[in-house]
Amino acid sequence: MTKQPEKDYSIYFQPPSLTDAKKRGKEDITVHYDFDIPEELRELGKDKFYLIQTYGCQMNEHDTETIMGLLEQMGYRPTDDRKRADIILLNTCAVRENAEDKVFGELGHLKHLKTAKPSLLLGVCGCMSQEEAVVNRITTKHPFVDLIFGTHNIHRLPHLIKEAYFSKEMVVEVWSKEGDIIENLPKKREGIKAWVNIMYGCDKFCTYCIVPYTRGKERSRRPEDVIAEVRDLARQGFKEIMLLGQNVNAYGKDFEDINYRFGDLMDDIRKIDIPRVRFTTSHPRDFDDHLIEVLAKKGNLMEHIHLPVQSGNNEILKRMSRKYTREHYLELVAKIKKAIPDVVLTTDIIVGFPGETEEQFEDTVSLVKEVGYDSAFTFIYSPREGTPAAEMEDNIPYEVKVARLQRLNDTLNVFSKKSNEKLLGQTVEVLVEGESKNNPEVLAGRTRTNKLVHFVGGKELVGEFVHVKIVEAPTFYIKGELVKAPVKS
Ligand code: SAH
Ligand code: SF4
Ligand code: F3S
Repeated sequence: MTKQPEKDYSIYFQPPSLTDAKKRGKEDITVHYDFDIPEELRELGKDKFYLIQTYGCQMNEHDTETIMGLLEQMGYRPTDDRKRADIILLNTCAVRENAEDKVFGELGHLKHLKTAKPSLLLGVCGCMSQEEAVVNRITTKHPFVDLIFGTHNIHRLPHLIKEAYFSKEMVVEVWSKEGDIIENLPKKREGIKAWVNIMYGCDKFCTYCIVPYTRGKERSRRPEDVIAEVRDLARQGFKEIMLLGQNVNAYGKDFEDINYRFGDLMDDIRKIDIPRVRFTTSHPRDFDDHLIEVLAKKGNLMEHIHLPVQSGNNEILKRMSRKYTREHYLELVAKIKKAIPDVVLTTDIIVGFPGETEEQFEDTVSLVKEVGYDSAFTFIYSPREGTPAAEMEDNIPYEVKVARLQRLNDTLNVFSKKSNEKLLGQTVEVLVEGESKNNPEVLAGRTRTNKLVHFVGGKELVGEFVHVKIVEAPTFYIKGELVKAPVKS
């Protein structure tokens, strides 16, 4: 195939701009329902194989399902074998430096593959591709990459692949600012659990966080589209859905024509015949009373809330721009516990925010004790270029931060153990997810509160709900015995 000379290839070099990514415009959000892949692109992947490596959060994992859906409509088939792959995509995460380091390390390995097989198409997508500095680094230091596309450009992938096959230059298309929502994108889902986006982007701009720059402004999917998707997943036999958004409690804030918020959405989804519904992530700021009231109705709404706190100290929370205080957070926790007494709370915490003193860190430890989280994701603060916190003075040595992280985790483990021990002797409902990693005779499943339970049972129970009596519960795993199966299907 020859390159078409009349085409303007400069339009396929649109790198991201940090200045644009910071802006929040007032333009209306358009929802597109007319997505389609042109016939001529549907043959491009015939007899070819794809492989995608995904980093980061569930949003990214779900984007990978969309990318897989697109590639398969173009004729590509999946492979786990890198040598067999004709296209390899890295769907990247930018949230901390070590996530980025992994990807640059991987690019080093992929260079050898590309040298051995020049027809291999190498692409980088996801949150790192939204960063100006990353794209500059790839174009200058990793010129063997064929394609970079952003989180707002996923629907453009079929066209971009075609361009990458024809072009001698690296194809880069990253829109920094994009309000539109594209419905009807194909998605490749497997198993018994499905992710469902309810909104995109983030307007919170916590001072340490890169996500508002990599995912654009907050925009909610229309309730009718979310509900139709959930109904369809129920019809297809999925057992659990996870509603996704960077800040699901801001759902609907951007609707101008209707007054419909996350609590309303949950109340409507509650009536759909899908056995388990979860959501992530909730920002404490927008967690309103109506939502608590709806969650307390339980049914298919699980009694587990992931409620990132980040810090227990008001000065740090202020400098993080979290827009709530320790007291607000604790008040919210008390309200939730009162309405849902058996609720399980988990959280995210950052230690070593610039200038965090020992006393300020102690406030986080004391908050952890006060709330009694079941588990938490804990991170050492990682400066992200372009965010306000990266400019703040930081005089805390790294070893001190590591020691604080260790202490925090030790405290958290005490509570995880306590909460697991509470389960001893109880019979709980478990959705069986599959065989355990190390022993095919042992099954792994999750409780309503999202705790992982292992028990002996037959493969035919995968995808079923069973009752399991908890017999052992040390810190990191819970062992049970099958009581009676299945309870419902
Ligand atoms: N939208 C979600 C979080 C997305 S990022 C929310 O607001 O809860 C997931 C977690 O990564 C955050 O909760 C935070 O704890 C952590 N994180 C984000 N930026 C970070 C940084 N620069 N350094 C360390 N941890 C960070
Ligand atoms: Fe990042 Fe804060 Fe938005 Fe979460 S709410 S994605 S931590 S800016
Ligand atoms: Fe990472 Fe982007 Fe998710 S930065 S955490 S993949 S939204």
